[in-house]
Amino acid sequence: MKVLFIGDVVGSPGRNMLKEYLKKLKAKYRPDVTIVNGENAAAGKGITEKVYHEIKEAGADIVTLGNHTWDKKEIFDFIDDKEDLIRPGNFPKGNPGKGITYKKIGGHTLAVISLQGRTFMPPIDCPFNEADELVREAASHTRFIFVDFHAEATSEKQAMGWYLDGQVSTVVGTHTHVQTADNRVLPGGTGFITDVGMTGPYDGILGVEKEAVLHKFTTNLPTRFEVTKGREQLNGVFVSLNKDSGKTDSIKRIIINEDIPFFD
Ligand code: FE2
Repeated sequence: MKVLFIGDVVGSPGRNMLKEYLKKLKAKYRPDVTIVNGENAAAGKGITEKVYHEIKEAGADIVTLGNHTWDKKEIFDFIDDKEDLIRPGNFPKGNPGKGITYKKIGGHTLAVISLQGRTFMPPIDCPFNEADELVREAASHTRFIFVDFHAEATSEKQAMGWYLDGQVSTVVGTHTHVQTADNRVLPGGTGFITDVGMTGPYDGILGVEKEAVLHKFTTNLPTRFEVTKGREQLNGVFVSLNKDSGKTDSIKRIIINEDIPFFD
């Protein structure tokens, strides 16, 4: 089982990069399942139904979300209709949507789980308790379990990796938009990276116009953030899962930008 995961798609620059490179990446790596984090895909905050379809048409099998899940109001009209669109499972009870989905491929099934951290983020239910619940459910169907942990703190993401080591195939961190170079297979066999990085603008600050972010930092005044234009980048990981154990055999980082061009 091979999984391609693309980090947080930010606005139209991120969608451009998906359209330009996702099919080429799929031709190169031949993943069984492609997962895209789309929580910033509509103008940097949230997702619309049109943008969801764009991501799917670019080649995603499953779309994951995060703290911006509810930012575009129309999400409430379609999240429950999309089997392959998931939001963090530890949002409080009563939230629409779900935190787990399954993709059948050949004779196998990949479970994909979305969770969100609580450190320096809005207070929601415990991601570790919810991980217990969702992993138990997933494990009753399959040994291939992939977790997108959308969290701010490096420590909380590493904690989740170690917490789930040996219980799931892979834990990838998202949300902080800068790819970390700590991809590894933990001793229990779980593949891990603290953050996959983002897909979108290359020259802004986490995807946002740098002038606006500098204004905010230097004046502390309320500032409107817009997705920046110009050069673009894509970040992801490619994970090979062992067909017998479901554990990670290898986790490789993918980076495409003007300094590190794509080659097939
Ligand atoms: Fe986020």
